[in-house]
Amino acid sequence: MRKKVIAGNWKMNMLPNEAIDYIQKFSDLVKDTENEVILCVPYTDLFYCLMNAQGTNIKIGAQNMHFAESGAYTGEVSGKMLKSIGVEYVIIGHSERRQYFNETDESVNKKIKAAFENELKPIVCVGESLEQREAGETEKIITTQTRLALEGLSEEQVKNTIIAYEPIWAIGTGKTATSEDANNSIKSIRNEIKRIYGEEVSENVIIQYGGSVKSSNAKELFTTSDIDGGLVGGASLKPDEFSKIVNYNK
Ligand code: PGA
Repeated sequence: MRKKVIAGNWKMNMLPNEAIDYIQKFSDLVKDTENEVILCVPYTDLFYCLMNAQGTNIKIGAQNMHFAESGAYTGEVSGKMLKSIGVEYVIIGHSERRQYFNETDESVNKKIKAAFENELKPIVCVGESLEQREAGETEKIITTQTRLALEGLSEEQVKNTIIAYEPIWAIGTGKTATSEDANNSIKSIRNEIKRIYGEEVSENVIIQYGGSVKSSNAKELFTTSDIDGGLVGGASLKPDEFSKIVNYNK
């Protein structure tokens, strides 16, 4: 059985002192969960979070990385740099990065490969826009994004990739996909992985839902057949609220 993986995405929020307070409070609230708990934090919080999460069940991730190992890329941070301080996860291809920072399927693919080269676990985001949804293109868009993101990876690497299905129209809008809709989209992503990499891989890969997950809808979403947890933005900024999402099955 796949385990549930619940990741917070703080986006561009939280100063180090706030992050430290958060982890002190949050670690106590989630210490008894059997679910995997990840906090994806801004670069400037990473080291503080790693120090303060030591000895807890909280894993720390970044929200982006560059695909090169080092070099003349002013302002960028590499996977090697993340690994060097103990980061374990990295979000790749979030829709905000695709939309505002020209992230493409090709750069997403390169970053995933670089993440694995540095022993980081990628959390790869895919999802359709409202126009694409209304045009009936959801399945085509999300299966294509998935296929291009994973191109050239080994079966073992695909198994170790976390995919986050995040319909763009549901992110930060308070509009959540219905659990049935989200589950169906996630099934189509899993089927695409099965078609390319086989059933053993597709049955093992973790596929999360993201987009206005909160404590009031987490249980309904996470108890469907194919949704293996969530990537949570706004509701991950408060330790109480996020701990309720992590503890949805308590
Ligand atoms: P949201 O964001 O939970 O605030 O909708 C989710 C995300 O962008 O990962």
